[in-house]
Amino acid sequence: MSEIFVSTHPIVLHELSVLRDRNTPPAVFRQALHRVALALLQAATGDLDTRKVIVQTPLESAEGLALNVRVGLAPILRAGLGMVEAGLTWLPQAEVWHLGFYRDETTLQPVKYYSPLGTRPLPEVMIVLDPMLATGGSAVAAVNELRRHGARRVKFVGVLAAPEGIARLREAHPEVQIYLAAVDRALNEHGYILPGLGDAGDRQFGTA
Ligand code: PRP
Ligand code: URA
Repeated sequence: MSEIFVSTHPIVLHELSVLRDRNTPPAVFRQALHRVALALLQAATGDLDTRKVIVQTPLESAEGLALNVRVGLAPILRAGLGMVEAGLTWLPQAEVWHLGFYRDETTLQPVKYYSPLGTRPLPEVMIVLDPMLATGGSAVAAVNELRRHGARRVKFVGVLAAPEGIARLREAHPEVQIYLAAVDRALNEHGYILPGLGDAGDRQFGTA
């Protein structure tokens, strides 16, 4: 069964309160999301493969470690876009494979509208970025898409999840490690996370 990491870091929890606050304007929301994503990405990359290297310091040689794996970021549009800059700050060499899914408002089913997958081989580790894991439909569809195109190892970095979304992702893809700032209480009848933070895409881009 997949591992779930839920942050207890005081700065993550501080920024989460900023994200939840309905009065937070989009510019501040984006900054808070960036900081939360950075902290969660640190946690999510703590087990990446490394190899020993010898580097010459100005004084002598030193043994060290270097990353030994290609990593890809797969932000789910639109809301996952707000986590990309953090991903590239932490992993400057990462490839970014945008995935376009929107959730049909009536059926709550994910609808794919963009995927660049299939153009060339994917990195060994793919990190799906999406702040919201609500019903889990979008996350499962994104991981299905990555797996269909040969992704070997997939991690999910979100911000908020509902128990229903976690259960659905774990059932469909038990091997996917999940990293979150918090697990909320429930979903409402429209598939929104409670207490949640509202629509993460609209709150970032001022389209509420
Ligand atoms: C939101 C969010 C997730 C999805 C989560 O996207 O960013 O992708 O809903 O819901 P689920 O777990 O029930 O699938 P949305 O469809 O609102 O698109 P947007 O990011 O473009 O606003
Ligand atoms: N998507 C969001 O942006 N927010 C939710 O609460 C659920 C899905």
